[in-house]
Amino acid sequence: MVRGVVDGGAPRIDAARLLSRLEELGRIGDTQDGGCSRLALSDEDRQGRDLVVTWMRDLDLDVSIDKIGNVVAVLPGREDGPPVMCGSHIDTVATGGIYDGNLGVLGGLEVLETIVTEGITPHRAMAVAFFTDEEGARFAPVMLGSLVYAGGMSVEDAYDLVGIDGARLGEELKRIGYLGAAPCPGLAPHAYVEMHIEQGPVLESHGDMIGAVTGVQGISWQELVLTGQLNHAGTTPMAYRHDAGFAAAAIAVAARDIATGLGGDQVATVGKCDLGPDLVNVVAGKAALTLDLRNTDGLVLADAERQIAEAVDQIATKEGISVARRQLARFKPVDFDARVVDLVESTARAHGYRVRRLPSGAGHDAQMLSRLCPAGMVFVPSRAGISHNPAEFTTPEQIEAGANVLLDVMLGLAEDDL
Ligand code: GLV
Ligand code: MN
Ligand code: MN
Repeated sequence: MVRGVVDGGAPRIDAARLLSRLEELGRIGDTQDGGCSRLALSDEDRQGRDLVVTWMRDLDLDVSIDKIGNVVAVLPGREDGPPVMCGSHIDTVATGGIYDGNLGVLGGLEVLETIVTEGITPHRAMAVAFFTDEEGARFAPVMLGSLVYAGGMSVEDAYDLVGIDGARLGEELKRIGYLGAAPCPGLAPHAYVEMHIEQGPVLESHGDMIGAVTGVQGISWQELVLTGQLNHAGTTPMAYRHDAGFAAAAIAVAARDIATGLGGDQVATVGKCDLGPDLVNVVAGKAALTLDLRNTDGLVLADAERQIAEAVDQIATKEGISVARRQLARFKPVDFDARVVDLVESTARAHGYRVRRLPSGAGHDAQMLSRLCPAGMVFVPSRAGISHNPAEFTTPEQIEAGANVLLDVMLGLAEDDL
């Protein structure tokens, strides 16, 4: 049973150090509007990785890079054995903020630095990791590095993935110097805890400081390539058209209607749509669009997939176009370990913070690590629930609170049994 560790003399993280690192890392890929673009395995990702690895080595952590480019930095404990691990990702979407993922990695590094500075040698080893291509924005699926770490995909299959720019993942990994030697699947940690911004409005709207995350909703990504007939925009009567652009728009509308009709947690997004030839006076002969469906209830998610598949068939038949489908990601909803969720909640309460249990709407590396060990997450609020947007923001006080909760949860897990 993990004991509470909050008392008068308990160690505390250095918020100024953590914030200055967040800002420094955020300057790599700076989009000049407060945001950050470090797509996985890009030159900016490499620079970000180099900086974080430098900080890890400065702390004398034992840094290893695995065959998919995940980086794990270990602080030895008093006894051998698997570490208590924290971490997240440092790749971003192209319109990212500076907090998504980065906070979990730098917050974890701050936890380890605090422990080192305090002269504490924990019973169990501790580790902070960053996982490759969590966002999946360049190379689908989402959470790729942690999926491979957990044994859910082979490194060979991962190397063969082709990005939205036509690049092959294996070549990009080698090009940026992060194709490491450590084996995949990786070592199962003793436990895994990830701090992250909520990326939604729940904590802020309730005035809560900390979220004890109960799990992550299921996710379904697919790509649809629609083939119609290129034709002249002026001369082709409406009844003669096989318009891939129109069909793509109709699918986006159907996805919205189906999600709204199912209600509850169901969400549906057409976030990417490329028309060919993409010209003002040509009826589109091609459309390639993505569908992102999520729900905490796996059965409702499957129902949403079925309804959308039917709608796509109907739209295609009516418009006289063909459809090729490709599944990009499919992960079931995940429940985190109840003991870790309880520990996050009780630790936050012991600090005097308002805490709420909630599921995560976004995907996280923690859901992949939960295949290997007890896992959970610490959420801090996101201003106005905005994320994947340069306006993403969490206050310094909220960041400090989250990192101190992470510190005590990590120390508790390192010293005691769950
Ligand atoms: C990425 O983390 C996502 O949830 O899309
Ligand atoms: Mn993230
Ligand atoms: Mn993200």
